[in-house]
Amino acid sequence: MTAPTALVTGAASGIGAALARRLADTGHRLVLVDRDGERLEAAPFPAGTERLTADLAAEDDLARVEARCRDGLDLLVNNAGFGHPTRFLDTPIAAEIAMARLHMETVLRLTHAALPPMLARGSGGVLNTASLLGFFPSSTYSATKAWVINFSQATARAARPHGVTVTALCPGFTRTGFHGSAGMDMATIPGFLWLDPDRVAAAALRDWRKGKALSVPGWQYKLVAAFGRALPPSLAGRLLSGTDMRR
Ligand SMILES: NC(=O)c1ccc[n+]([C@@H]2O[C@H](COP(=O)([O-])OP(=O)(O)OC[C@H]3O[C@@H](n4cnc5c(N)ncnc54)[C@H](OP(=O)(O)O)[C@@H]3O)[C@@H](O)[C@H]2O)c1
Repeated sequence: MTAPTALVTGAASGIGAALARRLADTGHRLVLVDRDGERLEAAPFPAGTERLTADLAAEDDLARVEARCRDGLDLLVNNAGFGHPTRFLDTPIAAEIAMARLHMETVLRLTHAALPPMLARGSGGVLNTASLLGFFPSSTYSATKAWVINFSQATARAARPHGVTVTALCPGFTRTGFHGSAGMDMATIPGFLWLDPDRVAAAALRDWRKGKALSVPGWQYKLVAAFGRALPPSLAGRLLSGTDMRR
């Protein structure tokens, strides 16, 4: 029997690397994608792992990975992402567009390319890393992640009758390179709010295998998500961020 194939984006570090390790441990053949080719090559994965260096916010690179998805996968993990340290009007528009492309256009196009062979076969699926912030209208980052949640839930409903599972992973604060890369100061975040990327990966894959459309790892964030989703959007957003764009 041939091993199932999983393609993971943003696989050189953090949650993506943890997901890839777990998938390798459960017998998957890996296709790893990241813009950091050196870190990708250095990561210790089994022989036979495909490594694609690609900046998914760049058209030619995205088209290359899209073609790989069309060739056939058992699991697509759309995980690559980043944040901005600045508010909307203080962020260069090119950086906002790069985030919108990576978090939305890439997820849209890779899912569109990967799903048809899965639906024809009646197995497989997609795991999209969104964020708990997708439940709270607080920034352009949260807006892109809200899109990932909504898109995943809609796609999950359409794919489920054909034996294909689509899941949105919604982590809270997770100890990865994410906040350092974005230049965010996280010193005031209390310890109990931090998640370990391996545990996030384990919960995500467990929920995906169970056929869940939403995965919220950690008891503390299950509570926050339930509370946040019950609040009016204006109040939920105000709890997490200021509303003055000029500050
Ligand atoms: N950590 C958290 O607290 C948290 C919470 C909720 C959701 N998330 C989401 O989790 C996902 C994974 O993030 P992480 O926490 O594991 O952060 P991470 O350690 O920084 O990993 C993200 C990976 O994606 C890569 N990447 C960024 N932009 C890319 C692009 N244009 N093309 C290809 N690869 C790109 C990064 O490369 P570079 O290092 O070169 O940028 C990095 O290797 C993201 O979607 C993030 O939004 C994280």
